[in-house]
Amino acid sequence: MKTKRIVVLISGSGSNLQALIDQVHQDPQVPADIVAVISNRPDAYGLERAKTAAIPAQVLDHKTFPSREAFDSALQALIDTYAPDYVILAGFMRILTADFVSHYHGRMINIHPSLLPDYKGTHTHERVLADGKAEHGASVHFVTAELDGGPVIMQVKIPVLPSDTPELLAARLLTQEHRVYPEVVKQLVNDRIVLGAQGIEVEGRLLTQPLLLANG
Ligand code: GAR
Repeated sequence: MKTKRIVVLISGSGSNLQALIDQVHQDPQVPADIVAVISNRPDAYGLERAKTAAIPAQVLDHKTFPSREAFDSALQALIDTYAPDYVILAGFMRILTADFVSHYHGRMINIHPSLLPDYKGTHTHERVLADGKAEHGASVHFVTAELDGGPVIMQVKIPVLPSDTPELLAARLLTQEHRVYPEVVKQLVNDRIVLGAQGIEVEGRLLTQPLLLANG
């Protein structure tokens, strides 16, 4: 199996990035290298995580570009210098242009803190609590031009507790994000999951509903 090249895009803490770094370093069944980490924010803590792991860390500050198109075009050029097989969005808080997204069709995934298609966008934990939901979760999906709307590969679910605040719920979900994202990446880099013309295929079979990560 060819070793896959991964570029991770971040904007903040990078705890999901850390989970992916740990997995790539520790799991011999993950034939992948994280070849670069790129942040649109100069102060993202995830950049430190990359440096600690001896991964090239780059900043492309969106504030220095005149338009979304100009930023995405520069980002694409920077990413492509690393010739990635996959682009992984890990807390990358940018709306992406259709041209950028289509360039990485089938090769770019994102993790979103909700059970998509519910709660697209931001403040998902607050909205789940305000609606009195019994269940929350995270979704890993292929990125398409529709915001948080691409085909969902795998989800993880957690119960909402009576004592939950948005912060507690977010923290509890984050620990599960750190399980589900490496699991999807493992399957992806082993060519078990692909985005075909009809939708997601898992080992050649069309997926009719998202995979669900078992509790652990
Ligand atoms: C995670 O909860 C991730 O699901 C969310 O941002 C957080 C990043 O945390 N992503 C989105 O909301 C994307 N729309 P991290 O920087 O510690 O990985």
